[in-house]
Amino acid sequence: MTKGIQVAIDGPASAGKSTVAKLVAKRFNYVYCDTGAMYRVVTLAALRKGLSMDDTDQIVRLAQQIKISFQPGDPEQRVFLDGDEVTQDIRQGQIDNNVSAVAAIPAVRTEMTRQQREIAQNGGIVMDGRDIGTTVLPNAPVKIFMVATAYERARRRYVENKAKGIATASLEELQKEIELRDKKDSTRAVSPLTQAPDATRLDTTNLTIDQVVDEISKIIKKTQEQL
Ligand code: DC
Repeated sequence: MTKGIQVAIDGPASAGKSTVAKLVAKRFNYVYCDTGAMYRVVTLAALRKGLSMDDTDQIVRLAQQIKISFQPGDPEQRVFLDGDEVTQDIRQGQIDNNVSAVAAIPAVRTEMTRQQREIAQNGGIVMDGRDIGTTVLPNAPVKIFMVATAYERARRRYVENKAKGIATASLEELQKEIELRDKKDSTRAVSPLTQAPDATRLDTTNLTIDQVVDEISKIIKKTQEQL
């Protein structure tokens, strides 16, 4: 059997990274790790403690103290904060609006990066986020940078919200929110969202989920053959 490798998938918000990463992990029987969920858990813990997003020291301390864990689940991976399930809580609008601030705190990133490297150390992992190929796993043999136009990402989020029965903002509002998040994630001082020079860029605007999964699977198989 070939040894499981590290697969890093980065890209902007709502590019479909987690959907695709999960399916790729399933196909290869790899572990899937959603690093955005980790920043979301820290944000939730801070809000629950009533911390202000400016209270950097306290948020860092919290990030170092809390236990973030995952369990496989269908259709969504289950996420836990100190043993309590928070899978749904971390997807609320309040978290969406505050997570960029938390993810911009350098010492929070240092702690999350440390935990992510630990999770990935044995290979056989698909990890998605913003800085996986550039910072967390710079030696990952497979790096994908997934992009799609802001309009297309807003459209996908809109359709998804409708299907889930979640009260949704208009398409225009969603697009604005996505563009704002892109800006915050790409311009922050530490580990901004950038494509690693050795990453494969995949524009998914006109591709189906299956096509993207097939494309990444081909890259993984080819890489495994070369190792
Ligand atoms: O992918 P997501 O929307 O769940 O990510 C939530 C936030 O966390 C988003 O503002 C980007 C940030 N993030 C990050 O800075 N680094 C990562 N590796 C993953 C997410």
